[in-house]
Amino acid sequence: MNFQWYPGHMTKAKRQMQEDIKLIDLVIELVDARIPLSSRNPDIDELGKNKFRLILMNKSDLADKRQSEEWSKFFQEKGYFVYGLDARAKKGMKKITDIIMEACKEKIERDRKRGIKNRPIRAMVVGIPNVGKSTFINSYAGKAVAKTGNKPGVTKGKQWIRLGKNVELLDTPGILWPKFEDQLVGLRLALVGSIKDEILNTDELAVELIKLLKEKYAGILHERYNVNEDAKEIDIIYEIAKNRNCVSKGNEPDFSKAAILLIDEFRSGTLGKITVEWCGDYE
Ligand code: G4P
Repeated sequence: MNFQWYPGHMTKAKRQMQEDIKLIDLVIELVDARIPLSSRNPDIDELGKNKFRLILMNKSDLADKRQSEEWSKFFQEKGYFVYGLDARAKKGMKKITDIIMEACKEKIERDRKRGIKNRPIRAMVVGIPNVGKSTFINSYAGKAVAKTGNKPGVTKGKQWIRLGKNVELLDTPGILWPKFEDQLVGLRLALVGSIKDEILNTDELAVELIKLLKEKYAGILHERYNVNEDAKEIDIIYEIAKNRNCVSKGNEPDFSKAAILLIDEFRSGTLGKITVEWCGDYE
């Protein structure tokens, strides 16, 4: 599969982020809990060096809980603060402020020693497209979004959202590009729907999804679609077409319709809580 590539946009976004990062104490990086590594861009480690770091594993409502726990440990061992999130749920946002304070406690302590009291932590949200950055900012800010505006002495044009007395969030998230050039990363991004379906071959994607499900979630396809999991991937899709009444003209089983049905049911969580990228495969 080939994925689109926009070097111009990427360079601009990266330059913007380099500027914005100078203004903040903490980088809040969103990753997709179903593909915690493939939804990252390793540039962020260079861009965010010397900053406090928090990884929010978003869309955790769709991910396998046990895998998410393992990934949390994986990132914690590398020195990040980590929290599993469903950005749409709006719950758990108070907890995030607590974690931010914990992640930045060295800075708070440093300020205190210098006699600086109540200077809010400044943070920005970063992540690849579609990972949930805007959803998170809206949920976290809640209805009472208090934009602090352009304060004197602060770079022109920056809008800060004041969150209680302790945190200020840059209102525009930083966009990182995933590593498209890695085909496996591309496949995983495609599976979770981070790459537009118009540029994808969904038939091929469904075959890859079945391979993964057979290996990591044995029984799940049989349970939902009543198919023989020992059959070839292509035959399984035909069986899904028959069992789910995906038919084309002439009442023939429609392979492509069944492929789309399978992908949709996976992405929406109907098929179950599924993590595509397993932590154990990287350790
Ligand atoms: P971005 O700013 O990083 O590009 O992402 P954005 O917030 O636009 O979110 C992308 C999609 O992911 C949205 O769905 C959003 O609702 C969904 N989303 C964000 N966080 C979560 C989460 O924690 N769990 C789940 N299940 N979904 C999440 P959409 O299909 O583009 O729009 P809509 O269905 O909300 O209308």
